[in-house]
Amino acid sequence: MNHPLPPETADHALATGERLPKSERTEFSPEAIAEIQAIAAKYPDKLAATLPALYVAQRDFGFVSLDAMKAVARALSIPEGHVFGVASFYTLYQKKPVGKFHLQVCTNISCALNGSAEFLEKVCKKTGCKPGGGPSPDGMWSVEEAECLASCASGPCMQVNTDVYDENIDDAKLNEILQACERGEYREWGL
Ligand code: FES
Repeated sequence: MNHPLPPETADHALATGERLPKSERTEFSPEAIAEIQAIAAKYPDKLAATLPALYVAQRDFGFVSLDAMKAVARALSIPEGHVFGVASFYTLYQKKPVGKFHLQVCTNISCALNGSAEFLEKVCKKTGCKPGGGPSPDGMWSVEEAECLASCASGPCMQVNTDVYDENIDDAKLNEILQACERGEYREWGL
């Protein structure tokens, strides 16, 4: 059975990256621009500042939107194509909005052998999120399957924003981590 494209997309060619969600911000804050300029000054070639500048963008925009990538290109006076290529290659850059606490669960082989699939299910159930499905309705959580988090001997391994919890996380430890987030004891995304 044929499913014709909806009228708004039938004759509309998508530009590179157009499917990416839009961020509220379209320009860097003055503080972020100053930070990127300070980073760029450390390198003989501005292309080398792309990775750290994208981290600044991720923090300043909330995630690495298409506008964030364009802003990085403008801030460093480098080609947009280079920034798109770098940002799309690395999964550490979030190209979609995430919750205040972004939980990345490693499902690679060592963690899988230690029950990461069941652990991921528990994390999803407790937060009301689907892996890669964006923030929970209250904006508190988002969940993602992650590649190896470099703590293979002690899986299942989970990362909360930029902090890795590398012990064998059981139910009690998971509850403890989530409750600590709710009490505001861990840094929120982007802070
Ligand atoms: S396989 Fe999970 S941390 Fe390496």
